Amino acid sequence: MILADIRFCAKEDLGQILEVDRTSLYPWPERTISRDLLGGGARLSYIGAFAPAVKDKLLGYAVLGDEKRNGLLMNLVVVPEHRRRGFGTQLVAAAAECANDMGFSMLVLRVRASNFAARALYGSLGFRTDATRESFYSDGDVAQYMSVRLPLFINEK
Ligand SMILES: CC(C)(COP(=O)(O)OP(=O)(O)OC[C@H]1O[C@@H](n2cnc3c(N)ncnc32)[C@H](O)[C@@H]1OP(=O)(O)O)[C@@H](O)C(=O)NCCC(=O)NCCS
Repeated sequence: MILADIRFCAKEDLGQILEVDRTSLYPWPERTISRDLLGGGARLSYIGAFAPAVKDKLLGYAVLGDEKRNGLLMNLVVVPEHRRRGFGTQLVAAAAECANDMGFSMLVLRVRASNFAARALYGSLGFRTDATRESFYSDGDVAQYMSVRLPLFINEK
């Protein structure tokens, strides 16, 4: 597995984050990401996976927040040309480590039931489905609520 350079994103990374997010099936509103990174007040952590050989080239990112005393993985995107290389796994691992360091004992997330790639990734890392919510998303898609206990141990392939 090629190891990415994992670090917290800063406002200088905003342009690349917006570019990466546009490759997601369901991009976040640009104003939300801009506010989070430039506003300074958000309690969200943007964690970036940067190319090991190209300085500051963003390959993917994760967003960690919290909800009901759990770490909440709010977003995760890897650019299409770098998928299936373990970067999504490394980003979830980094978010889990961060959540554990913050004192949370669980990492939770919501994922579209139709998002087979993401569900396969989370399943491979030990996340369990706790509940399903019909019509959770504005387009009527079903959400699966998933969680994993921290610390998260990942078997290297
Ligand atoms: C979901 C996503 C982040 C996965 O990132 P990734 O870097 O490709 O994930 P990894 O390479 O770490 O995959 C780890 C494992 O997850 C599973 N997996 C990932 N993508 C898969 C796919 N398309 N089909 C089947 N299994 C998949 C596999 O078990 C994979 O291991 P393998 O490649 O050895 O078989 C990426 O597909 C993506 O950015 N999708 C668009 C945004 C999105 O849907 N985000 C989720 C929001 S909840």
